[in-house]
Amino acid sequence: MQPEIIPLHPLFAAEVRGVDAGAPLTEPVAASLREAIDRYAVLVLRGQKLDDEHQIAFTRYFGEPEINIGIYRPASQRRLARPEMADVSNVTPQDTVQARDDKRRMFNLGNMLWHTDSSFRKPSGCLSFLYAHAVPSRGGETEFADLRAAYEALDDETKATIEGLRAEHSILHSRATLGFTEFSEGERAALPPVLQPLVRRHPGSGRKSLYLASHASHIVGWPVPEGRLLLRDLIEFATRREFVYVHRWRVGDLVIWDNRCTLHRGRPYPPEERRDLRRVTTIDPENLAQPAAA
Ligand code: OGA
Ligand code: MN
Repeated sequence: MQPEIIPLHPLFAAEVRGVDAGAPLTEPVAASLREAIDRYAVLVLRGQKLDDEHQIAFTRYFGEPEINIGIYRPASQRRLARPEMADVSNVTPQDTVQARDDKRRMFNLGNMLWHTDSSFRKPSGCLSFLYAHAVPSRGGETEFADLRAAYEALDDETKATIEGLRAEHSILHSRATLGFTEFSEGERAALPPVLQPLVRRHPGSGRKSLYLASHASHIVGWPVPEGRLLLRDLIEFATRREFVYVHRWRVGDLVIWDNRCTLHRGRPYPPEERRDLRRVTTIDPENLAQPAAA
């Protein structure tokens, strides 16, 4: 049986019913999910029962999972065994809720800035698969913005200005904007900045899209303040409420998004409550990222 696709927003995002992500997919079902991702960019599958192995196996129908940067988490301190899993939770390896000043928590607070996953890596992030094991009693939503619709809504002068521009992306930059700079020399060396196009054509839909993230610090060839202002203006424009779908999590939700044409951010929740979300992200086969000149 083919899945049922129910739009959740006038511009993008849809709920998919009739798919068990923990079981093998038939090729027609996998193909219809790929088509739905290309069209809607955000898909919500409710009521799933996945362990980490299932989540990784499901992701492989759509691409090659990246190995998580695992910052601050040498193998012995990782809560999750598989290197493909990004631990988006506020839970320690001892299964307690992280202290307010836990480094891993402060690092993950950067997810509350509008961003795309792994735009600072080469190859960059493509599709993300985020699954909810535990959710807080209130807050903790994830918001998504449609960067194809935002691009199309720009005025012609802005479209002409930004065509062909490139931005420098680094995860150190997004964390620094929140005042978090505790990176060792080794971590800095392991995360060199990359250059990304500001406008790209989304392969699956043929539509042009902005490519933005809080990881982007400036525009190549422009004075830093001017480029940073442009990036801020574009993020402000692209995240106007009409471009945003808000996902309110329930345990068992699997949300898939296309990082090539959306922005997302987490929202606050009571810090003493447990929130256990785990993500697998595929690498972008187009690999547009270029090393930034040193
Ligand atoms: C992520 C992310 C936001 C959230 O998993 O990549 O940014 O709401 N998550 O936890
Ligand atoms: Mn993210």
